[in-house]
Amino acid sequence: MDLAVKSVNKHAIAGAFGRAASKYDTVAKLQQQTGEYLMTLAQAEDIGMRVLDAGCGTGFFSARWKQQGKQVIALDLASGMLNHAQEQQVADYYLQGDIEHLGLAGNSVDICFSNLAVQWCNDLSCALQELYRVTCPGGLIVFSTLVQGSLHELETAWERVDDYRHTNQFLPLKAITQACQPYRHNVIQRQYRQHYSQLLPLLNSLKGIGATHLHHGRQQGLMTRKRLNALDEAYPRNNGNYPLSYQIAFGVIHCDK
Ligand SMILES: C[S@@+](CC[C@H](N)C(=O)[O-])C[C@H]1O[C@@H](n2cnc3c(N)ncnc32)[C@H](O)[C@@H]1O
Repeated sequence: MDLAVKSVNKHAIAGAFGRAASKYDTVAKLQQQTGEYLMTLAQAEDIGMRVLDAGCGTGFFSARWKQQGKQVIALDLASGMLNHAQEQQVADYYLQGDIEHLGLAGNSVDICFSNLAVQWCNDLSCALQELYRVTCPGGLIVFSTLVQGSLHELETAWERVDDYRHTNQFLPLKAITQACQPYRHNVIQRQYRQHYSQLLPLLNSLKGIGATHLHHGRQQGLMTRKRLNALDEAYPRNNGNYPLSYQIAFGVIHCDK
């Protein structure tokens, strides 16, 4: 069995992100940090004008590319996210679609930019193949994704409370690098650590970004006051705060075809 291939419920993912759309930008601090870094990686090279923002969400970074004079296609699985992006007029074109089956012609964009979206795909290799197919020769694909070990504080705390799985399993860095192997690429990993003064805002930050949906199904066990207290007691503290770590892989793929 190929461990890099999952079976995700895309309908449920689109629903979770769609519901999070209106509050998303106020809670998506991690996405903004990783997206800024991803932009610096893409801008290090002078590529063409047409940008695909794949898994654009509210279009925070579509707008950044548009401000730079690029022609931007904003694409997302979630109609709720895409509607929000369209209301803000962040892009030139809006496309509801799946990164793993792009409704775009081959060689039709110069830059594929995908910030923290491909971790929701079934198969990273398939997603990268599609992004590569639509990118023209000489173009660039930049993506960021969550790596195994992310949210480990939360996972460990839950393990002390019950036997259910409460966090998603993300790919190890090795599998991400392997998926990039067919192309001229560079992958690096960075750690981001957030601190919360209370547990509830930490949990809400995950909900707000639509990240509470589990790849293998709905979260089990109702969040009662008793369970919340037990989780609070089990959660590690750092100077009185609740830390939450994310391991992020950044990939740069050159389109040499
Ligand atoms: C964590 S958000 C990131 C949004 C945006 N890139 C940003 O930086 O703020 C992930 C987004 O990817 C979208 N998404 C998830 N799976 C997708 C897929 N297979 N194809 C297209 N979009 C997808 C979700 O609907 C969501 O809007």
